[in-house]
Amino acid sequence: MSKVLVTGGTGYIGSHTVVELINEGFEVVIVDNLSNSSVDVLDGIEKITGVRPAFENIDCIEYVSMDRMFSKHENIDAIIHFAASKAVGESVEKPLLYYRNNLGSLINILQLMPIHKVKNFVFSSSCTVYGQPDVLPVTEDAPIKPAMSPYGNTKQIGEEIIRDTIYAAPSLYTSIILRYFNPIGAHPSAEIGELPNGVPNNLLPFVTQTAIGLRKQLQVFGDDYDTPDGSCIRDYIHVVDLAKAHVVAVKRMLSGEAASNVETFNLGTGRGLSVLEILNTFEKVNDIKVPYKIVGRREGDIEKVWADPAYANDVLGWKATESVEETLRSAWAWEKNLAGKRN
Ligand code: NAD
Ligand code: WQD
Repeated sequence: MSKVLVTGGTGYIGSHTVVELINEGFEVVIVDNLSNSSVDVLDGIEKITGVRPAFENIDCIEYVSMDRMFSKHENIDAIIHFAASKAVGESVEKPLLYYRNNLGSLINILQLMPIHKVKNFVFSSSCTVYGQPDVLPVTEDAPIKPAMSPYGNTKQIGEEIIRDTIYAAPSLYTSIILRYFNPIGAHPSAEIGELPNGVPNNLLPFVTQTAIGLRKQLQVFGDDYDTPDGSCIRDYIHVVDLAKAHVVAVKRMLSGEAASNVETFNLGTGRGLSVLEILNTFEKVNDIKVPYKIVGRREGDIEKVWADPAYANDVLGWKATESVEETLRSAWAWEKNLAGKRN
């Protein structure tokens, strides 16, 4: 059985990826410092899969702890590195925390991999590296624009660190960089999903928390953009579709199919939807009204971005399949399950 180390594995995307890895017969080891997730997520993973993965409560920026973890869990066949801080606004207020956490973690893992004879590495990147693309839909060879936040910069620098490290020692590493668009939704079991700390920054958790009554009103940040209904457009992808792409990427590396030492793929649906379209679709499929108000633009927001997923579809052999309706139903089911747990 191949063994995969998943850093950030009790997080939103990590937990869904762990489920899909287990479903595909992989052994999983999770490393997470629980800075933005709960150990209870392991219960959800076990409920869905019947398997409770090995879990190490370790901070990836602690080199010695990570070295010991690699010695304890031998014969790791691949690493999926989700562990990072990801709140754009917080990164503007606390840039050094983001550079230390996101880049320190990455550097530790890249340094430890050859020592422990681990070769395969999947990196969580983001469409944020493109900024506002000049051409839409956006392909992997679109120019990287100056980052709009320290968080986005950690993804750009992270990709460069990977490329430079592998250029210096191509025989030691194979890496696949996955640029996610906007993951939303939750596992159909509603046993795992997005667990935002405090007031959600992202659209979907704010919508579902408003719908359930935790928030008074959704603020729609601007309807004066150059889009059909004036609100921003994004490529919203079901988190389970995204998780499945990671299994495909790991299998690609393990099978030796990777065409080069570093491959980069956009993980999106190729479908651009506006904030108001998401809101209206959410209300329709879940038969619920969400109080909202159009307010001013949010600083740093780009106007519109959606993926050209052809490269991932054709070369990676992966395609997003979930409809936006099903995705929004899963988000609502998860929020209702959370409410049940709170009461
Ligand atoms: P998340 O916060 O839910 O998960 C990240 C996990 O990493 C959390 O469980 C957190 O406790 C853990 N973590 C953070 N720093 C750590 C450290 N130093 N050591 C150990 N564990 C640590 O976030 P997510 O939405 O699942 O995102 C996962 C990855 O995907 C991140 O790298 C993020 O930047 C990237 N990403 C997310 C999105 C998105 O919209 N959610 C989009 C693009 C890229
Ligand atoms: C989506 C749209 C908002 C909240 C961010 C990060 C990106 C990645 C994904 C980590 C925008 C609008 C939102 C609200 C709103 N994260 N909105 N009211 O900004 O596309 O991307 O998360 O990698 O790096 O930048 O996602 O969900 O915050 O916003 O109107 O209360 O919804 O203006 O147009 P975003 P988002």
